[in-house]
Amino acid sequence: MSYVTWQEPANPYAVDDPAEYIAALTDLHRGLDRQGPGDAAFSHQLLQHLPGLPPKPRIADLGCGSGAGALLLAKHYQCNVVAVDSSAVFIQELVLRAQQAGLEAWVTPIQADMGKLDWPEASVDLLWSEGAAYNLGFESALRGWRPLLAEAGIAVVSELSWFTEAVPEAAIAYWQQAYPTMGSEAENINRAVRAGFTVLSTQRLPSEAWWRNYYDPLRKRMQQLEGTPALQEVIRETEAEMALFENFSDCYGYTFYVLSARS
Ligand SMILES: C[S@@+](CC[C@H](N)C(=O)[O-])C[C@H]1O[C@@H](n2cnc3c(N)ncnc32)[C@H](O)[C@@H]1O
Repeated sequence: MSYVTWQEPANPYAVDDPAEYIAALTDLHRGLDRQGPGDAAFSHQLLQHLPGLPPKPRIADLGCGSGAGALLLAKHYQCNVVAVDSSAVFIQELVLRAQQAGLEAWVTPIQADMGKLDWPEASVDLLWSEGAAYNLGFESALRGWRPLLAEAGIAVVSELSWFTEAVPEAAIAYWQQAYPTMGSEAENINRAVRAGFTVLSTQRLPSEAWWRNYYDPLRKRMQQLEGTPALQEVIRETEAEMALFENFSDCYGYTFYVLSARS
């Protein structure tokens, strides 16, 4: 999703009312498989290399959107996945998608704030979060989630990250406004360690996956929509985000951080 939007409340909203802005952003992402960059084959590859989990792991997908990750995890492990998102629209879409996929018995959608989960300590074996931790700040999300993990628990969390030391000014300027705390992979590894994790590996999502699974379908939807000024503003910003990625995807992208709760 466009980063200019979900950053609350520091954002310089071009649309005055944040609620109106979020509603427009949600509208833009309705009916899409994903609300952020990701890739099923890439996720399967990650899962294949995770250290041993219990046969029926307790799984949570935090910031699940309409459920790309939750559905994949439920199918892969054939067990229950608790899927949390603050958006009623996306949770409703997930309910329908789970039914259509025959996975409703294994997906528990919950509309809640993933930063305020009152779950028991050590109650999750696999915590999955794609493209969502930044809403809480990467380190602060990890700190908040760490107690939820079982002793041998694993977290797989994707985070927008700088890939190179030298970054063109245009990319810095854009992300300084849209996501000021965006870090390099080394910085994010340090943040994960400070939050109480051991970093097992880092994997970069290939840039083609951004286009194939996220930006291309999003662009198609943008062309179909006519909208309110707020929606038009969200579309303009999303186009700017895409243009930036087109030029500078060598310098930044999503890194998946595979983290162990064991020290
Ligand atoms: C970029 S989307 C990613 C969605 C999904 N994981 C995917 O990859 O398709 C980020 C999601 O985080 C959700 N979100 C933002 N802040 C949240 C919060 N505090 N608690 C729960 N969900 C939140 C948004 O509603 C949105 O669905």
